[in-house]
Amino acid sequence: MPGFKVAIDGPAGSGKSTISKKIAEKLNLTHIDTGAMYRAITYLALEKGINLDDESEYEFVSKVKIEYKNEKIYANGIDVTTKIRDDKVTKNVSKVSSFPYVRRTLVSIQQEAAKNIDVIMDGRDIGTVVLPNADLKIFLTAHVKERAKRRLKDKEVNNVTQDIEQLAKELQERDLKDSTRKESPLVVATDAIVIDTTNFTIEDTIERITNEILKRRITM
Ligand code: DC
Repeated sequence: MPGFKVAIDGPAGSGKSTISKKIAEKLNLTHIDTGAMYRAITYLALEKGINLDDESEYEFVSKVKIEYKNEKIYANGIDVTTKIRDDKVTKNVSKVSSFPYVRRTLVSIQQEAAKNIDVIMDGRDIGTVVLPNADLKIFLTAHVKERAKRRLKDKEVNNVTQDIEQLAKELQERDLKDSTRKESPLVVATDAIVIDTTNFTIEDTIERITNEILKRRITM
């Protein structure tokens, strides 16, 4: 698959999307946030009022048109960028993304989207399933308390307050579901570089990953 590919995986709140977005701008790569795709499908499933526990009701996924334009995400032409961050979506997204039919459909859309371009893609199974031949694989992690702190900060920007202990508990529940599901669970790819960002700033992490990208691009 021509084009330079960077895979960024890790648990919720590890900073994947923020960091990927900034590196994409800095190095002129296309950023694809695959978590946003699973969230968009969850949002549509809730809107349709389907039985979320019944895999056979997810056939609509293969007909959904997902597009990214200027860091906004559209599902069937509707801007869902803000809606996909709602608590209701967050609470159900691990369940929706555990269904093999949903995963296989989105994985093939993601592989198609990454074809022939320089890309940084973030998610849970990018280095293991979506882009197994990526030029660079990073696994970002951080202590759950730190991840909850970061999520709380994001929420406060939008005037939403939540108890930090409760937030940490929800993150842990989501991590457990994401890493124990049968189909492509969250695991560290054997050839990934693991970066624990608990005591790093965003800028530190961006610099570390940028250096790894530049090293590999030069030797290509
Ligand atoms: O990165 P995020 O928190 O927005 O992701 C939302 C959910 O989507 C996450 O709990 C698990 C799922 N997901 C996934 O299963 N595979 C991916 N490649 C990306 C996200």
